[in-house]
Amino acid sequence: MRTLHTRHDLREALAPLRREGRSIGLVPTMGYLHAGHVRLMERARTGNDVVVATVFVNPTQFAAGEDLDTYPRDAEGDARRCREAGVDLLWMPPVDQVYRDGHATTVAVGGVADHLCGRSRPTHFAGVATVVLKLLNLVGPDRAYFGQKDRQQLQVIRALVADLDVPVSIVGVPTVREGDGLALSSRNAYLTPNERREASAISRALRAAVDAWAAGERDPGALRDGLTARLDAIPGARIDYAEIVHPEHMSPLGSAADAAAGALAAVAVHLGRTRLIDNVRLDEPDTPFLSATG
Ligand code: PAF
Repeated sequence: MRTLHTRHDLREALAPLRREGRSIGLVPTMGYLHAGHVRLMERARTGNDVVVATVFVNPTQFAAGEDLDTYPRDAEGDARRCREAGVDLLWMPPVDQVYRDGHATTVAVGGVADHLCGRSRPTHFAGVATVVLKLLNLVGPDRAYFGQKDRQQLQVIRALVADLDVPVSIVGVPTVREGDGLALSSRNAYLTPNERREASAISRALRAAVDAWAAGERDPGALRDGLTARLDAIPGARIDYAEIVHPEHMSPLGSAADAAAGALAAVAVHLGRTRLIDNVRLDEPDTPFLSATG
């Protein structure tokens, strides 16, 4: 594996691979890599000749007062994980290699970005879309891999490449969970031992929504109320949102008839200083969410 830091070195390393017609899979990350990121890399490894991973804590997707400065970082550990996962090229640029002096262009995705996290973090998805488009332009991959834990981000990126005709396939990869159901996230590192114990109740609340759906409940209001009640019962938790939404558009469902096309339960919860997000397709839950009775 080669670890590169400048855009010049990245371009130089990619040029011969492109000339040889080798397929390229890109895994963009913000580092502090965990088994969820490794799963993305493994998917990229099996689907492409060359795997490129990037580790870049993107400042433009953090608002003032958010956790940009404290976001966990571990360059050495990240490089080791990438090597073990079969990454060929790891790009770890400093900020000035991604954003030139005077950078003044932002990509604003509408529609799907307006709901859920887009409401509570109004500048977030413009930062994500801008950096992802830059990474896609710099690397020119055939496929790019993103986790379904950030389901809205995945849909924002799908909208970005469809609307701007970016020639890349976007691959969504199922969430990896701890044994007690907590979705893996670099931000789990912020949790105190007590918060970590309480955090498993988030996936249990989603699991209860899956069970309610499997038992025939289709009223989004009833599903949302059940979810909210369970999240409210977590000691120290503050709900940012708990919604039943369209699985692709992310817009809240108004009636049982709206749920005919499927439904996603999506939550954001503050536990102490940590904001955790998670989601599950109620109509097609991932394996760990399958109902014991269904
Ligand atoms: O999901 C992330 O880690 C980031 O939002 C991404 C896609 C790498 C953009 O900075």
